[in-house]
Amino acid sequence: MLNDYRTLHLHMIYTVHDIHDIYLQFQIFFTVKFKMPVETLFSSDLISSEVQAALPKGHTIRPLSSEDYEKGFLDVLTVLTTVGDMSKAQFLERFYYLKAHNHEYFTLVIVSPEDRIIGAGTIFIERKFIHNNGLVGHIEDIAVDKNQQGKKLGLRIIQALKHIGAKTGCYKVILDCSEENVPFYEKCGFTRKEHEMVWYIPDDISKAKL
Ligand SMILES: CC(C)(COP(=O)(O)OP(=O)(O)OC[C@H]1O[C@@H](n2cnc3c(N)ncnc32)[C@H](O)[C@@H]1OP(=O)(O)O)[C@@H](O)C(=O)NCCC(=O)NCCS
Repeated sequence: MLNDYRTLHLHMIYTVHDIHDIYLQFQIFFTVKFKMPVETLFSSDLISSEVQAALPKGHTIRPLSSEDYEKGFLDVLTVLTTVGDMSKAQFLERFYYLKAHNHEYFTLVIVSPEDRIIGAGTIFIERKFIHNNGLVGHIEDIAVDKNQQGKKLGLRIIQALKHIGAKTGCYKVILDCSEENVPFYEKCGFTRKEHEMVWYIPDDISKAKL
């Protein structure tokens, strides 16, 4: 009886996933095919007004939007690593997934006066059991366009992400970085703690894709 209930429960979860997948494909199709209204990843209420005020004149900090593929968002990420040759549909597939989980994923961008993306960063909120069901913010993928580095834009991105971490109730915000970026993060108010470890999954191990 219990096993039947579990099977039914799993079946329902998979059905909900399938329906969500179909809905996602429709959203992508209509956005690529027709001129759909611009959508933002999360509410701009979470963007710090102090950080906005501290930006150079004409610059804006805002949530990632469904039009940022055209505005150079992926180009900015190439300062970090390979991004791949992504189509607009692939960008939107990830965008709408994150938007459906926008209580967990917060990607923001800095836009130049010419309406180009020149900086980006993400905070991901992890839900824990420890610390009384505590929340931890993970800062990821901080990138500032090569020609715009050294103008405090990286600092502003981190300040804005720390603000989101605090507003969403995290008890701490953590990140991994290279040795050479340690002084940058120290200037952003972080301190060293423990070590980062990694396991890259070998190609010959079959991987299920989420
Ligand atoms: C690292 C990065 C995000 C910094 O952004 P930035 O806009 O160039 O940095 P800022 O101008 O905001 O720097 C803020 C402060 O940190 C200092 N700083 C920045 N990078 C530094 C570095 N590598 N070493 C020492 N200090 C550094 C700046 O001099 C500045 O100090 P100041 O307040 O005394 O003037 C940016 O250089 C970048 O995108 N690099 C490539 C991608 C990358 O490594 N991302 C981080 C992944 S963990």
